[in-house]
Amino acid sequence: MAEKEELTRFGVSIPVPLIEQFDRSIAEQGYTNRSEAIRDLVRKSLIDDAKLQGDKQVAGTVVLVYDHHASELSSSLMELQHQYHHDIISTMHVHLNHDQCLEILVVRGQLARLRTLHQQIQVLKGVLYAELSVTYVVEEATGNQHSHPPVNGK
Ligand code: NI
Repeated sequence: MAEKEELTRFGVSIPVPLIEQFDRSIAEQGYTNRSEAIRDLVRKSLIDDAKLQGDKQVAGTVVLVYDHHASELSSSLMELQHQYHHDIISTMHVHLNHDQCLEILVVRGQLARLRTLHQQIQVLKGVLYAELSVTYVVEEATGNQHSHPPVNGK
């Protein structure tokens, strides 16, 4: 967001040992203050895939590891990816070793549909690991509250 967002302050009661542990942990991660660390935690919780409703428009990745010797797996995966070509906007393939491949699919679309894609990948024989990660949620416009100012209005 280009414009400066309005900030609000709030008080939180928390056990001393817990906040000390938290402070050490965020210092190790490189945070210089609690506020930024907490803001990041809040943002992360809001895009937690498991809590999001399926009708949300999101972007993210499906990461999978599979055995490319598994019979028909490569062609099944290819078939699926063509079926979801509107949702998969980019892919990266890495040959991990003699047997295993790692693939990253960058996905964008309706979450319910992406969950189905992930499910369909996960159940394929020879897929060792598959995870859907949501990293962006498209905020829907909510009437006047978020109406945009005229572009050249300033
Ligand atoms: Ni490979």
